[in-house]
Amino acid sequence: MDESNQLDELMTCRLDTGRRVVEPCSIVIFGASGDLTSRKLIPALYHLYRDKQMPPQFRVVGFARREKDDASWHGELRQALEQFSRTKPIDATVWDEFSSRLSYCQGDLTGPAAYGKLEQLLASFGSAPLRSNLLFYLATLPSQFGEVAGRLHHAGLLHREGQSESWQRIVVEKPFGHDLASAQALNTELARFAHERQIFRIDHYLGKETVQNILMFRFSNSIFERLWNRESVDHLQLTVSEKAGVGQRGSYYEESGALRDMVQNHLLQVLSLVAMEPPVSLEAEAIRDEKVKLLRSIRPWRAGEVGRQIVRGQYSAGTVDGQSCPGYRQEPRVKPESNVETYVALKLFIDNWRWAGVPFFLRTGKRLPLSASEVRVQFRPTPNVLFAAHCGPKLDLNALTLRLQPNEGISLRFNGKVPGTSSQVRPVRMHFSYDATFGAYTPEAYERLLLEAMSGDATLFIRRDEVETAWSIADPIQTAWDGRPLTNRECYAAGAWGPVAAEDLLALSGHAWRNPQLGEPPFVFRHAVGP
Ligand code: BG6
Repeated sequence: MDESNQLDELMTCRLDTGRRVVEPCSIVIFGASGDLTSRKLIPALYHLYRDKQMPPQFRVVGFARREKDDASWHGELRQALEQFSRTKPIDATVWDEFSSRLSYCQGDLTGPAAYGKLEQLLASFGSAPLRSNLLFYLATLPSQFGEVAGRLHHAGLLHREGQSESWQRIVVEKPFGHDLASAQALNTELARFAHERQIFRIDHYLGKETVQNILMFRFSNSIFERLWNRESVDHLQLTVSEKAGVGQRGSYYEESGALRDMVQNHLLQVLSLVAMEPPVSLEAEAIRDEKVKLLRSIRPWRAGEVGRQIVRGQYSAGTVDGQSCPGYRQEPRVKPESNVETYVALKLFIDNWRWAGVPFFLRTGKRLPLSASEVRVQFRPTPNVLFAAHCGPKLDLNALTLRLQPNEGISLRFNGKVPGTSSQVRPVRMHFSYDATFGAYTPEAYERLLLEAMSGDATLFIRRDEVETAWSIADPIQTAWDGRPLTNRECYAAGAWGPVAAEDLLALSGHAWRNPQLGEPPFVFRHAVGP
């Protein structure tokens, strides 16, 4: 280790030294033949095992309807791992050890018989914790969450917290409901069989390193937080753009659209971390209290405001990366006359002391020019004297960009003198890159999330009141759109940065979207100062 590495090591403060150890347990995945299991869950568990993060004893049970035995399930998973693993090649020895702990349980999750089979399988595991510390991962249709929980309870596999020495937890995938009423119904159903502390609602954005870093960045530094308010911030832009279209997920997407698929969860979660007040401690509940408080401070849309402050869009045929792409209505399992939005841009206000009057612009869309997510905090201009008086609007505003993915990093943009005998000012950038500082190692979101769920830490999961508040924000928007056909101004060609209406949304308040760039942005501003 060289000197600077030693110093970095000495300067590192370890927050999880007192963290709960992960106790021996079994993870039961319902919906084990689905995509999520082979693409995300098994690769995540394999890496946790490889990196010695799994408890000394554990088992993974895949529960699904299709007939197969352990060997054929292992074969499928191994093939998928070759394709989706973040590290390659797969370590054969590690895989063999890991896969010897994976068992397949065939059954119909809507009938009691299968739960008897599951119980027998669990009972055959060597030690008591493997039989009774159970993490149930519901990668099923949301309409089945309640039924599975109920059947597990009746089979004696799921006990309400405090009723047994061991623990049982339920992890549920999104979508958690499709509106406030359905989310409330789902919550009520789950609450019949499990305490809220046993329910872990996933939003995989919270598992991303860069999203977790938002709180550290804000609350472990003194220089940025004091600028983080209406005195200094002009406005904030949050962009989550994707190049991909809906692909084979047409039937799901027809029921969801970008508002339910991305805004209600991922975008509002990132927003709540970016804008929340400091929590009273680092405990899960303290952090979640502040997040929900922030969501509750979002000004509700009054009648007629949805049309002015929220833009939806749908991609038509176009070109992304030089490849022609079909329009959304031509995608498989999409209705040819569909009005489902593949793009949303919205302007919102947070009515609290810190943010009163600061506009927040959020946007997300599919088939945009590139896949990139970032938060851009745009600071207020300098007074209109000195350089600003000369350059006018050409003097770039200071901005701090949290790049969530890819090329993860943080950039601060400010103006500087161009060296030389003439007087020229142009924006320059200070940049922190995760790769350059920490190397390319970034665990997948699911690795962190599975580990946290096994250890019982709910910080990175969505609490009941959070999910319901988020739906109460999304519902009025959906209601205003329902039954209203898309107009031409709401369509955008694949490969464009969304519909024209989205540009108008910012232009109305004198702003413009700043599109994420790939890699180092070229410096295009060269403003001469003075004569
Ligand atoms: C999922 C959405 O939750 O998030 C997808 O259902 C979307 O439509 C995906 O593509 C984006 O996640 P990521 O991690 O690729 O940004």
